[in-house]
Amino acid sequence: MWGGGDPARFGIAGGGRFPFSFPHMMDRLPGFRDFYPEPLPLPDMWSADARQYIFGKWRAVARRYGFREYDGPPLEPLELYTLKSGDEIVGQLYNFTDKGGREIALRPEMTPTLARMVAAHERHYKKPVKWFAIPQLFRYERQQKGRLREHFQLNADIFGEADPAADAELVALLIDVLRSFGLTADDFVIRLSSRNAWQDYFNQRCPDAGKAYAFYQIIDKLEREDPAASREKLAQLGFNLDEITAFIQAGEPTAELRGILENLAARGLRDYVKVDYQVIRGLAYYTGVVFEAFDKKGEFRAIAGGGRYDNLVKLISGGKVNLPALGFGFGDVVLLELLKVRGLLPTFDAAIDAYCLIEDETLRPASLQLVQQLREAGLAVEYSLVAAKPDKQFKRAQEMKAAHTVKWEPAPAGGEPLVRVRNLRTKQEQSLPAAAVAPALATPAT
Ligand code: HAM
Repeated sequence: MWGGGDPARFGIAGGGRFPFSFPHMMDRLPGFRDFYPEPLPLPDMWSADARQYIFGKWRAVARRYGFREYDGPPLEPLELYTLKSGDEIVGQLYNFTDKGGREIALRPEMTPTLARMVAAHERHYKKPVKWFAIPQLFRYERQQKGRLREHFQLNADIFGEADPAADAELVALLIDVLRSFGLTADDFVIRLSSRNAWQDYFNQRCPDAGKAYAFYQIIDKLEREDPAASREKLAQLGFNLDEITAFIQAGEPTAELRGILENLAARGLRDYVKVDYQVIRGLAYYTGVVFEAFDKKGEFRAIAGGGRYDNLVKLISGGKVNLPALGFGFGDVVLLELLKVRGLLPTFDAAIDAYCLIEDETLRPASLQLVQQLREAGLAVEYSLVAAKPDKQFKRAQEMKAAHTVKWEPAPAGGEPLVRVRNLRTKQEQSLPAAAVAPALATPAT
């Protein structure tokens, strides 16, 4: 399309000037983010370095728990979500018809994709399958604190194990991911609940199973909704808000929740969890234990959420594969806000190992060779792309937080040319043959 156009249409024939005019500065879409490298132009911007830091921790802890990384497509058939995700998320879909007439959606969550992937090839993998991914997800939702139209989410899921030991393993992973950022039991809590407990509650009081999902939706919104409105909606289904509040406050753990609590206690992680039946989760596919991570002061939206969805694989595979499943999603937006407020983000500096000074342009080819050699040895090396005054080059080396400067010295009469290496922290200097520079730079200065 761009290559084959009529040049006159773009005004290119008229002197080859740029064909478009920009009446205003282009901006990004609301709810989307630009990630800039540090140092940031303004403090409230999104940091590419902080994002990388978060991804690094997510990956490291997931791997420590034996989870393997997978990925899937960001575009999926619309039907994958309308099938079973729940009204809220479907109402927030970015969807369109593609040029082949297919109904498409940008993924708002990873779970249906994962269920599809696992169902297609589960025989190839030993159970339990423990997988993680870090997808970017898109939801057309009202922008508010902690909620954007795009976010990244650590997804960790287990397939093929119905025992609550798997739920405990997943909750332990969530706790350890949060702890890896320096957050403690004073900062966050995992609120553990069970749809089974609510299902029993529902079944004892309402014979119409068709109303169960509407009931769960009301419970899910209890904290956010005006109590009078919740009372009214519950009454329409034949329930009483006071009775429900009493059930939540009693917080009597079911047998499966007791198993999870004991498992976590054995790991020394019991203090991070409390039974809280207020949590029921909005998504339609959850079947059993559900949980959410919140900051303890209650200043932020949920940090993470998940639970069991034992029927989703069967549904997505058209009944061909049946596997118990459970998992959680942990977004980057609330986490970053929380880490900022608690002062737990490290400072990110783009320190390099060496800056090559080129003070004599006749030495540029030899300097490029040296730079290449050091980079091939795995070192981060910078230099001035064009001729520049020596003091300007040195200033740049300092700005880039270079650990060393390196530069070719004129060869002594009859001798081999050497590289002058200067440690910018200790101020120590030495002259070395080129082959000895990389090992010298890799050795930390004492
Ligand atoms: P979810 O509760 O919709 O669950 O999202 C999980 C987490 O993603 C939230 O707790 C929050 O950290 C983050 N999040 C969600 N929406 C937004 C948004 N608009 N902006 C920023 N962050 C957001 C799920 O997505 C399930 N699929 C999780 C799961 C995996 N269940 C089982 N396996």
